[in-house]
Amino acid sequence: MRNKLEEIKESSKQVLKDIRDKASLEAVRVEYLGKKGKLTDVLRGMGQLSAEERPIIGQLANDVRSFIEEEIAKISAELEKAEIERKLAEETIDVTMPGKTNKIGGKHPITIVLDEIKDIFIGMGFQITEGPEIETDYYNFEALNIPKDHPARDTQDTFYIDDNTLLRTQTSPCQIRTMENMKPPIRIIAPGRVFRSDSPDATHSPLFHQVEGLVVDKGVTMADLKGTLEIFCKKMYGEDIQVRFRPHHFPFTEPSAEMDISCPSCHGKGCRVCKGEGWIEILGAGMVHPKVLKICGIDPEVYSGFAFGLGLERIVMRRFDVDDIRLFYENDLRFLKQF
Ligand code: PHE
Repeated sequence: MRNKLEEIKESSKQVLKDIRDKASLEAVRVEYLGKKGKLTDVLRGMGQLSAEERPIIGQLANDVRSFIEEEIAKISAELEKAEIERKLAEETIDVTMPGKTNKIGGKHPITIVLDEIKDIFIGMGFQITEGPEIETDYYNFEALNIPKDHPARDTQDTFYIDDNTLLRTQTSPCQIRTMENMKPPIRIIAPGRVFRSDSPDATHSPLFHQVEGLVVDKGVTMADLKGTLEIFCKKMYGEDIQVRFRPHHFPFTEPSAEMDISCPSCHGKGCRVCKGEGWIEILGAGMVHPKVLKICGIDPEVYSGFAFGLGLERIVMRRFDVDDIRLFYENDLRFLKQF
């Protein structure tokens, strides 16, 4: 029996040497120490031993069992350690690698300038409103005192959806909608997209942006119009900017004017930007026509007002030195990234 036990010990050593995974380790354990294992098998013969031999062989058998158990425990710990190391190596995160950053979008140049314009007018007590891009003939023309035969109604300029529905050609219908919904004192600007059937070139686009302004109160005069717009221009372009008003005609204002600013590039001397004139036209304006007030239910004997409409693209082009209006709508990232 002694020999058999020694043999078991030796053979277990041999077998365990080559173990590389937990499953085969468990198989070895069962083979040697399990209920039907080699060691148990030997111990079954203990009954035949003499009383003196029994404790000696018993002790030896226990030693062999402990030896095998310890070996298995050792190998098991090693396998576990190797497994953890393998995982660590496989799943390491290199914190020194450059991160993947999300590209952050930017504001469109038109939005940048519009935000500035809004801030300036909010600072002067104006509210921001908006109107629909699809308008009726009434709001875009009729209520603005634009008679049926006015050239602005020519199908050359207007995108009609049907006889009575169209894409607004100006933000001025917002004047009517505002006066229908608000009681004076009114002080609003209404920015938005407008549409005209122009063929696109460097300075024309069938879609562009306007900012409409409207002030209605008791005792509003042309001086308020001039003062408000002059302050706006100084905040927008700096204190040394000059403004001038030229007589003009719009059906919905009387009197009407166009406003120019001294060219911000050459300060009035004349250059490529202002085409040698020294002045640049930036908006149309005037005192709200009494007929228009009346149409909106405001008594022109009590109230008066002024309105203006400025073209946003022109201002943005000058601000950022953009020489082709089409760049604003092409969504070319090489252009947009510059702002
Ligand atoms: N709606 C006019 C245009 O598109 C501009 C304007 C607005 C003029 C308000 C006077 C008052 O040309």
